[in-house]
Amino acid sequence: MATKGVFVVLEGGDGCGKSTQVKRMVSRLGDLGREVVATREPGATENGAAIRLLVLGGDHLDPRAEALLIAADRAEHVAEVIRPALERGAVVVSDRYIPSSLAYQGVARGLGVDEIARLSDWATGGLAPDIVIVLDVPAREAAGRRAGPEDRMEREPDSFREVVNQAYRDLAVRFGWTVVDGSAPVEEVADQIWAAVRPLL
Ligand SMILES: Nc1ncnc2c1ncn2[C@@H]1O[C@H](COP(=O)(O)OP(=O)(O)OP(=O)(O)O)[C@@H](O)[C@H]1O
Ligand SMILES: [Mg+2]
Repeated sequence: MATKGVFVVLEGGDGCGKSTQVKRMVSRLGDLGREVVATREPGATENGAAIRLLVLGGDHLDPRAEALLIAADRAEHVAEVIRPALERGAVVVSDRYIPSSLAYQGVARGLGVDEIARLSDWATGGLAPDIVIVLDVPAREAAGRRAGPEDRMEREPDSFREVVNQAYRDLAVRFGWTVVDGSAPVEEVADQIWAAVRPLL
């Protein structure tokens, strides 16, 4: 289904700066007078919030169950939030989307990128972002930035985070995602993201 809006996705491992940069982008887009919808996965909808607790709480979850729960959250997210906003002509900025599943479940959990891509495509009715920006930050540096209690993913070791980071880099080449050095100062990162997004508006 054709949509009038622009769909921007920010990606990368835990603590890479996604939430920080979503805020920066929302403020710049607001200055242009566009309707902006900032959202995130998992857990942007009421049902999604319940799914988020299942995925990130607890101690153990079978990888396939994890993949299916994330896909269910995303189906609800697309139906309830993303597609309606795009149909209104809004700019949607999502903190995580399909690329997270490809990197975490497809590569790091070993379920296979092609299978997770098919599952994700089915879950979203084929809704693809206009641009995916990956914030690349070394695992150690990202872990050092974090405050507060860790969720189930954040308790994974540095080695898991490195696999996720490398998966993002490899997948970026294959799928044409834009990789930005997320170690740079916040405003520099924001400038680089803006340079990539501005031409799509
Ligand atoms: N470019 C940067 N340089 C240094 N610190 C940063 C930078 N960007 C963000 N931070 C800090 O790093 C921490 C994590 O950033 P943020 O919450 O935006 O990451 P995130 O990718 O959303 O993490 P999570 O996956 O946990 O939601 C915050 O304390 C933030 O202020
Ligand atoms: Mg965040």
